[in-house]
Amino acid sequence: MDDTSAATFILMAMTADPLLNIRNLKIAFHRHDAETTQAVKGIDLTLQPGESLAIVGESGSGKSATALALARLLPEPPATIHAEQMRVAGHDVLNLKQAELRKIRGKEIAYIFQEPTTSLNPVLTIRTQIGEALALHRPDVAKADRDAEIVRWLHKVGIVEPEKRLRAYPHELSGGMQQRAMIAMALCCHPRLLIADEPTTALDATIQKQIMDLLSDLRRELGMSIILITHNLGIVRGVVDRVAVMFRGQIIETGQVDQILKNPQHAYTKALLNCVPRMGPKHPRLQTIDYELLKSA
Ligand SMILES: Nc1ncnc2c1ncn2[C@@H]1O[C@H](COP(=O)(O)OP(=O)(O)OP(=O)(O)O)[C@@H](O)[C@H]1O
Ligand SMILES: [Mg+2]
Repeated sequence: MDDTSAATFILMAMTADPLLNIRNLKIAFHRHDAETTQAVKGIDLTLQPGESLAIVGESGSGKSATALALARLLPEPPATIHAEQMRVAGHDVLNLKQAELRKIRGKEIAYIFQEPTTSLNPVLTIRTQIGEALALHRPDVAKADRDAEIVRWLHKVGIVEPEKRLRAYPHELSGGMQQRAMIAMALCCHPRLLIADEPTTALDATIQKQIMDLLSDLRRELGMSIILITHNLGIVRGVVDRVAVMFRGQIIETGQVDQILKNPQHAYTKALLNCVPRMGPKHPRLQTIDYELLKSA
């Protein structure tokens, strides 16, 4: 690259619209029978196109609420969402109408969840479900070419004999294979952002690793961004660039993966790292977080 094109590249990178630009996001849940829960208490998140982020933190810290708010998937009410700025994939999502939101869900922002059953419909074949996603978001794929495109994606996510799986119902696939089918359904529409909320928590360690490797490969191949939500800091390396640590509705620490893993600053992050399950006789059990220790930090 000569000097002029290098300068142009740098300028483009600097002026490119971030994929995610969230300022002071607050999410509350209002219920008649209980006090209002302030689930997210003013967080900032920025992501450049192609950049990936893990959001880690304990149960109830506001990870899923944040993730669902990005495509306005939280039920409002009971949820209320406020932000100074909330731009996702070039859209001002706080001010979009429902019809406009439906267009960007799946097309630009796709989700995969812990339970394949939340995304896969048990009474429809894999072919019907992925076919519907293609029909909705991939006008470039002609109806006659849809089966070939589905097979191509099933193959891409590592499902063997994909032609045979076309007519399978979700229950005819193992948990790991269902997860792969869900990834195929999410990615066949070429989203710019994939939000994976605890995608492997229900799977055993070997399958978990395989799915993480798959996400990591697909991310590179497709140039998309991933927001990976997890309790487990041990699985983020190699999949994401940055980590944001959430604690009770706030981001308490953020940084590059290696920096967070090797040199965590906050006592809570250190405690989370101590919770990473390790193999071998030296660390036979999962450690729990000592909140007294945190108070003194
Ligand atoms: N639909 C809802 N109605 C009422 N309260 C909710 C709702 N969804 C989430 N909350 C509350 O908001 C807070 C944050 O929940 P959230 O699901 O974001 O946590 P999380 O970090 O994803 O936890 P986990 O790791 O268990 O999935 C919790 O106190 C939760 O009880
Ligand atoms: Mg959650």
